[in-house]
Amino acid sequence: MLIKSPSDIKSSEITPESVYRNRRQFIGDALKAGLIAAAPGVMPSMASAAEGDGLRARAPSDMVRSAPAPWWAEKFDNIKPADRNGPFSTNEDLTPYRDVVSFNNFYEFGTDKEDPSRRAQEFKVDPWSIEIAGEVDKPGVYHLEDFLKPHQLEERIYRLRCVERWSMVIPWIGFSLADLIARVGPNSKAKYVAFETLVDPDQMPAQSSRFNVIEWPYREGLRMDEAMHPLTFLAVGVYGNYMPPQNGAPIRLVVPWKYGFKSIKSIVKISFTETEPATSWNMLQANEYGFYANVNPEVHHPRWRQDMETRLPRTLFSAARQDTLMFNGYAEQVSHLYQGMDLARYY
Ligand code: MTE
Repeated sequence: MLIKSPSDIKSSEITPESVYRNRRQFIGDALKAGLIAAAPGVMPSMASAAEGDGLRARAPSDMVRSAPAPWWAEKFDNIKPADRNGPFSTNEDLTPYRDVVSFNNFYEFGTDKEDPSRRAQEFKVDPWSIEIAGEVDKPGVYHLEDFLKPHQLEERIYRLRCVERWSMVIPWIGFSLADLIARVGPNSKAKYVAFETLVDPDQMPAQSSRFNVIEWPYREGLRMDEAMHPLTFLAVGVYGNYMPPQNGAPIRLVVPWKYGFKSIKSIVKISFTETEPATSWNMLQANEYGFYANVNPEVHHPRWRQDMETRLPRTLFSAARQDTLMFNGYAEQVSHLYQGMDLARYY
């Protein structure tokens, strides 16, 4: 992501190489922050953590925060597991929980990958409300509890491909955005859906930083047919448990065929609009970050190629570098949305 002028950026900053050189450091930081209670070597493996309760993927219990509220815990008692051979999942190896929660982009807490896990632990998510606004039958401010009540939570295992060329495979918990949209009833003028993250500089230190690059709130948007696509997901958890603050608690978007920056975190407002909404990275550097941001190995970022990625975590036994797939491997499901569009122009 652009946090320096193009001439300042080193290629090591857009690949995770530096991260893995610093891995020891950030695991150490996570330990200090209480994220990892045991030494990394004795963490349970995901395979063993997955057994037992019908869910395939479970966060190690010693790494999970307690529930924000009892109603929340009840919601998590009844989660429909992912069908690993179905269209909303994958059989690829999961990125270990500890990497999912310690290597993050959440600029409200800082620009380094370990800033969110270090600085977001006191982030308050209860009470939380979400405003529904714009071209919709049922506008209003909804308490998160009422917002979630009608939805059955399910597990989806999606690839997440960041524009910076790293990727993960993450078991999310949540529900489809289309179900929410059906509930609030957009009218015929609604052509786009816009999302905003909380603005609260007391809790999100980078929002008041002098070095801040984003005009807050962080904003994202989708065309209505993208928002209604069955893959588009509102996530409230990972690995069978509550969403950690650094991953966008209490509720975030996940759009697996688009670069990760579309997957906006800690949402407080969802608006239905007639015109294409402004989005944060596009506002900052329009020639580098488009509104569509579909993963596309043929359309390169002006400063780096996009036809490969490093799958995290990189280990001694895995080469980690792999080809990037069109629409992040979801082409069969989503390419019809872009029929006839010049994807080099609408990047
Ligand atoms: N949402 C907000 N509000 N602020 C952010 O900085 N970063 C985005 C996205 N959502 C971001 C955000 C980017 S660049 C990526 S790659 C993903 O979150 C990363 O999600 P993760 O940290 O859970 O892996």
